[in-house]
Amino acid sequence: MLQAASTYLDWNNSIDILNKAYDAGLFALIIGPKGTGKTSLVREFAAKKSANLESVNFSLRTRESHLVGAKTLTDGSIGFDEGILIRSMREGSLLYLDEINAAEADVLLRLDEALDDRRQIVLKESTGEMIKANEKWFVVATINPLTHVGTKELPPQILSRFPIRIRLDYPPEETELQIVKRYASSGHDEKLIQGIKLANTLRQAAAVEELYYSPSLRETIAFAKLLDSGMNAREAAVIVFGNVYSQWGNVEYQKVNDIITSMFGS
Ligand SMILES: Nc1ncnc2c1ncn2[C@@H]1O[C@H](COP(=O)(O)OP(=O)(O)OP(=O)(O)O)[C@@H](O)[C@H]1O
Ligand SMILES: [Mg+2]
Repeated sequence: MLQAASTYLDWNNSIDILNKAYDAGLFALIIGPKGTGKTSLVREFAAKKSANLESVNFSLRTRESHLVGAKTLTDGSIGFDEGILIRSMREGSLLYLDEINAAEADVLLRLDEALDDRRQIVLKESTGEMIKANEKWFVVATINPLTHVGTKELPPQILSRFPIRIRLDYPPEETELQIVKRYASSGHDEKLIQGIKLANTLRQAAAVEELYYSPSLRETIAFAKLLDSGMNAREAAVIVFGNVYSQWGNVEYQKVNDIITSMFGS
């Protein structure tokens, strides 16, 4: 069968781990900072499995009704509009729970019920029917590390529902170069490496709280695209990597500007 080339580069063998988790019926949790390819990995996996992907992007405002469903009233008769969790259980689709640690406790409690080894949930909102998941049903969740603003710790009982844990961090330089080149033409290897080195310097500074912000693969990809557009490397670095720090004031901005100058000249 002919398959379109994928832009996703499986650099740490995550697809294989997900395949094994799937075959064993074990749910998976992907842990990593923003922009390290968590969502892309799940999309790639779904495509490879030809699975129907259903996603929930959790926030403090995600309600139980979104997951389980809500009563409806049409022409005087009461119905029930099934939520994404119930739908995916019935259909046996791949359920992607993005940033699950942003969810409120009551929402997690309902998930907890469905993710239990029995893989079933009682529709107490509607008929009280017991929904049993299709055997193909598979769940992958992501969490950002706790240093990430606004993230809460995931309760241990929910964590234990995801015994397969995949760490997705920033890739090694050479790998990041390969990834970035999938989004831009490849004429600028040396400059791209410089941009990736800069990103890594800023990431390391952010990790020890010397800077407020850590650039992701989105930034290194954007840097590559600006080089493609004909912009010179220093200007692209200032625009993509430098300017953002001015929101924390001039001192923060100057710190990064000095790093850029030391790497790209003035
Ligand atoms: N291994 C990879 N191969 C190809 N592209 C990648 C890879 N990793 C990341 N990318 C690209 O980097 C960008 C960010 O990736 P993605 O959105 O998947 O990250 P994320 O971890 O889900 O981020 P967030 O935590 O902010 O949701 C996307 O453009 C994605 O396509
Ligand atoms: Mg994502």
